[in-house]
Amino acid sequence: MASSSKFAALSSFVFLSLLLKGANAQTYQRLGACPTLGCIFPPDQTDFLAGQLFDIRLEVHAPVNGSEASNGGVPDEKFTLCIQKNRGSCVDAAKFFEVQDPALEKWNFTYYEDLFAEDANQLTHVNVAAKAYRALSLTEPGKYQAKLSYNGQARTVANWVVREPGKRKAKNVLFFIGDGMTQPMITAARLIAHKSINGKYQTLMQLDQMEALGLQMTHSIDSFITDSANSATALYTGKKSTVNALNVYVDSSKDAFDDPKVESIAELFRRKTGGPIGMVSTAYIADATPAALCSHTRDRDQRASVVFEYLHNASALTPQYDWPTSCKGPDVIFGGGAEQFIPGSGSYNGSDFYKAFQQEGYQVVYSNTELKAVGNSKKTLGIFSIDNLAKWLDRNVMPENLKNQKNSPLGDGTDALDQPGLKDMTLKAIDILQARSRGKGWFMMSEAASIDKMMHALDYDRALGELLELDDTVRASIAHLEKIGELDDTLIVVTADHGHGFDVFGGADTKYLAAQTTDRKKREAVGVYKKSGLSGYTVSPDVSPTNQTILFGAQGPNFPVQWNPRYAYAAGFGANPDRRENYKVNTAGPRRPATQGSDGGFEANPAQNTDGFAVSGTLPIDQGQGVHSLQDVPVYAKGPGSEAFRGVYNSVDIFFKIADTLGLGDTRKSH
Ligand SMILES: *[C@@H]1O[C@H](CO)[C@@H](O)[C@H](O)[C@H]1NC(C)=O
Ligand SMILES: *[C@@H]1O[C@H](CO)[C@@H](O)[C@H](O)[C@H]1NC(C)=O
Ligand SMILES: *[C@@H]1O[C@H](CO)[C@@H](O)[C@H](O)[C@H]1NC(C)=O
Ligand SMILES: *[C@@H]1O[C@H](CO)[C@@H](O)[C@H](O)[C@H]1NC(C)=O
Ligand SMILES: *[C@@H]1O[C@H](CO)[C@@H](O)[C@H](O)[C@H]1NC(C)=O
Ligand SMILES: [Zn+2]
Repeated sequence: MASSSKFAALSSFVFLSLLLKGANAQTYQRLGACPTLGCIFPPDQTDFLAGQLFDIRLEVHAPVNGSEASNGGVPDEKFTLCIQKNRGSCVDAAKFFEVQDPALEKWNFTYYEDLFAEDANQLTHVNVAAKAYRALSLTEPGKYQAKLSYNGQARTVANWVVREPGKRKAKNVLFFIGDGMTQPMITAARLIAHKSINGKYQTLMQLDQMEALGLQMTHSIDSFITDSANSATALYTGKKSTVNALNVYVDSSKDAFDDPKVESIAELFRRKTGGPIGMVSTAYIADATPAALCSHTRDRDQRASVVFEYLHNASALTPQYDWPTSCKGPDVIFGGGAEQFIPGSGSYNGSDFYKAFQQEGYQVVYSNTELKAVGNSKKTLGIFSIDNLAKWLDRNVMPENLKNQKNSPLGDGTDALDQPGLKDMTLKAIDILQARSRGKGWFMMSEAASIDKMMHALDYDRALGELLELDDTVRASIAHLEKIGELDDTLIVVTADHGHGFDVFGGADTKYLAAQTTDRKKREAVGVYKKSGLSGYTVSPDVSPTNQTILFGAQGPNFPVQWNPRYAYAAGFGANPDRRENYKVNTAGPRRPATQGSDGGFEANPAQNTDGFAVSGTLPIDQGQGVHSLQDVPVYAKGPGSEAFRGVYNSVDIFFKIADTLGLGDTRKSH
């Protein structure tokens, strides 16, 4: 009884305790978006598009031990939820939404309260009573409060807003995501790909020429650094969530598929317009940024289920949880990730997913040649390699690196030598979506995934190659849309999902650097301020004994003329593992900056950049790569509705801006 009366006293100061607990739970959290013992998902500060489908999850926690131990570890099973609209009375949720009161669920979980508890292996035990209301919607714009009553007088309140929907302005939306792309990367890409005379660029990036520029804040719901799953969820649903989550709020149950879902822009577009949708990525196609268009799970690594959801839907995956909306099989799916399709590999139930897609009416292509040759009328699946697609720099400048990968999408152990780039995939996707749209318009997401993947590897040359390929793709898409007469009806948005702490701070004389024998002397090769010099990437190289004309030359326009100049740009990272730096392009394929040492922690890869100097790591030694960073990321837009993308706003606002441009909000009551 002592613990419950202590709890009752605390609960009357629920807001105070919320602040205190929020400050306590940092490294580990009991449940990210639920600092109190009573949880409502969607939580406080959620905005909805009118008519957007969502689930509600309620949880009441009773920690058995640890600093919050309460009620003898027995959760209140008689908790109630009411919903208040504007200033009206608070109506029981089941009555408000005209649904049955859901069944009570019970489970328990454990977590460490902090790093000391982890060192001492002291897990805190928590018992949970819970309920879930499935597939609800709010159609009337206005302010709502969801109030959870539990443990006697304890209350958790979620303030929700249903935004006033906009009228359709654009027929089509082409949404580009440069994964991990930041303004310093764009600036560096411009430096190496566009010629400057006396400080003035003679040509510009396509991104430099868009109609609107904004900045978006990328924070997670429960941490200030995000991952791509969580941030894609924000961009596509207008809801903040937790790292690794795809279109759900993360609840405390073990099941990775029972978490409360929210409807994505792709599902909404299908449900409201019936128009075709496309997903294009240079990553494996089950990766987070494409996955969040159509899939729902708290765990982005459920790759087989993600692809199962592309083909079918959440209801087919988990029939016990009603979810009456879906992407209905995206009309275009282009990317890597053959391991989720090849029978007997990482595919759902080990079955042949190429065949499964064919049985649902898809044509399937496996190479750039087939992609170009195939007709535009059918739904099309294009899977061009196992894992991520090859990088622009390897495909275009160092094609030898495509060999000995054994990554053919057919799974026959040969090399995927005939891979398309982002531009090939995006232009073909436009043609297919256009052919299938029948006046309804279309929605496509096209992702330059390996800007992020190469920044993780601290391979900034390859990352900038990917960024320049994205810019080239945006340029070519604009030209193509103009040619087919759709440019004036298409909103084009280009943004990122998070950053990496990358910037250029000078130049480096790579020849001098390599010739020195001590690390301190090698660092004299780095030139800052006046000594940074001019871009060596935009001028023709000397024909050297190593035949650089062939290896590194003859790209452009809008790409470097050479990739391995003597005077290179010198760049660094906000965070990195131990590594060695020589400022040269890695000719053998993507960098691998760190390898595991004898203590299991990562240290500088002894086989990489052997002529460079050592750079001490700033990350925990269990990190072998760079990590995401805090900075706001840019948003570029062009076309109808683009003016809404000016200014500074939250990542979730991008969903509302796109949904409003497509007129997807619906104030008609659906039940
Ligand atoms: C947690 O739940 C399991 C059953 O799922 C049960 O066996 C176990 O006793 C529970 N633990 C606690 C601490 O209540
Ligand atoms: C909670 O109790 C369990 C045993 O039931 C114990 O293993 C664990 O260390 C305890 N945790 C704390 C934080 O006291
Ligand atoms: C989900 O997929 C199943 C199987 O393909 C199909 O029968 C059902 O109509 C789909 N439901 C929705 C909401 O798309
Ligand atoms: C996948 O395999 C499991 C276990 O064999 C089976 O219960 C389930 O029905 C299968 N699902 C599909 C969609 O084939
Ligand atoms: C560079 O090497 C290629 C073969 O790798 C050869 O065909 C070409 O003639 C060489 N060019 C020069 C300028 O040496
Ligand atoms: Zn990343």
